[in-house]
Amino acid sequence: MSFIAQSLIRWHPLHGRHDLPWQRSRDAYAIWLSEIMLQQTQVSTVIPYYVRFMQTFPAIDSLAQAHLDDVLTLWSGLGYYSRARNLHLTAQRIVHEHHGRFPESRETIQQLPGIGRSTAAAIAVFAFGQREAILDGNVKRIFARFFGIEGYPGQPKIQNLLWQKAELSLPADHRGDNIETYTQALMDLGAVICTRDKPQCGICPLQPQCIAWQQQRTTQLPTAKPRKPLPRKETVLLLLQYQQRLLLKKRPAPGIWGGLWCPPEMEIGADVMDYCHRQWGFAVRPPVELPAFDHQFTHFKLRIHPQLLHVVSDNSITSPDYVWLKPAEAIVQGIPAPVRALLKRNFLQNYTPSSSLIEQYG
Ligand code: ADE
Repeated sequence: MSFIAQSLIRWHPLHGRHDLPWQRSRDAYAIWLSEIMLQQTQVSTVIPYYVRFMQTFPAIDSLAQAHLDDVLTLWSGLGYYSRARNLHLTAQRIVHEHHGRFPESRETIQQLPGIGRSTAAAIAVFAFGQREAILDGNVKRIFARFFGIEGYPGQPKIQNLLWQKAELSLPADHRGDNIETYTQALMDLGAVICTRDKPQCGICPLQPQCIAWQQQRTTQLPTAKPRKPLPRKETVLLLLQYQQRLLLKKRPAPGIWGGLWCPPEMEIGADVMDYCHRQWGFAVRPPVELPAFDHQFTHFKLRIHPQLLHVVSDNSITSPDYVWLKPAEAIVQGIPAPVRALLKRNFLQNYTPSSSLIEQYG
């Protein structure tokens, strides 16, 4: 027998859960109901709902005859209501298409509304003692760690590999409650020991052969869902300079950098000299492009293209939202950190090529 099966079957009688209300039952209806309720919900939340549901609808025909509204009322608070609608639909299907008897094979169970492969397998195991592999989210985590499987488990390739491991790990002999004990042990281990955060490897029966434990990779496995690349935006930052001073504008709040002082921004692609004239009536010398850089916000990445512009006309602006400050004064104001870094890089280091730009135009 596989190391996993052997270890779990020995471990469960002493350390597993034995007193859940749907255990010690071979009633496929009761087991199905519990598995559906447990799909996105913790055991402790499910128990009172399960007990009430079984009191109201003790068997499949009573559920099939119920009004959907009454089913939804009993479900209210558990969330994911499509589960309740599918439950009702499946009860009617079983009554009308299977003579009121729950099908026994995992393949047939899996055809019913709201029942995926892992849930179908759990029902086949607990109700009919079939030798079937489960693979819910918790069990994926156990196998990804135990076998050291890299890659996001939602990816079809990784998911197929995990199913293979789940099949190969099943107890060779499923009789005499072996498959039930093994399956419940996997669920309990995932819920209580091999948890997502702070797994209790010190008391885990699988620890001696667990790859993640051996390589100290329990925090890296299973691999997290790849994050979608952030949307990218671009902007031009106008470093308008007049006699060693830079123009800063108070940014509107709310909005990014709301309330902070910042060199004015311009849409990328527009004509800079024309923009300065239209916006403030400034005549400027042709722009000097400084190196672009990225700044990461929570929801997007901003590529900033700074341009240095020397104002050669009257520089007066009456609006209180603008100030002319020397770079050394600007960096002690409330300005965005990447702008402060930009000013330091370009204006406040002695003898750098960029600070000499100021002298060139100053
Ligand atoms: N989660 C899913 N099915 C379960 C079960 N039968 N017992 C405990 N937790 C579960």
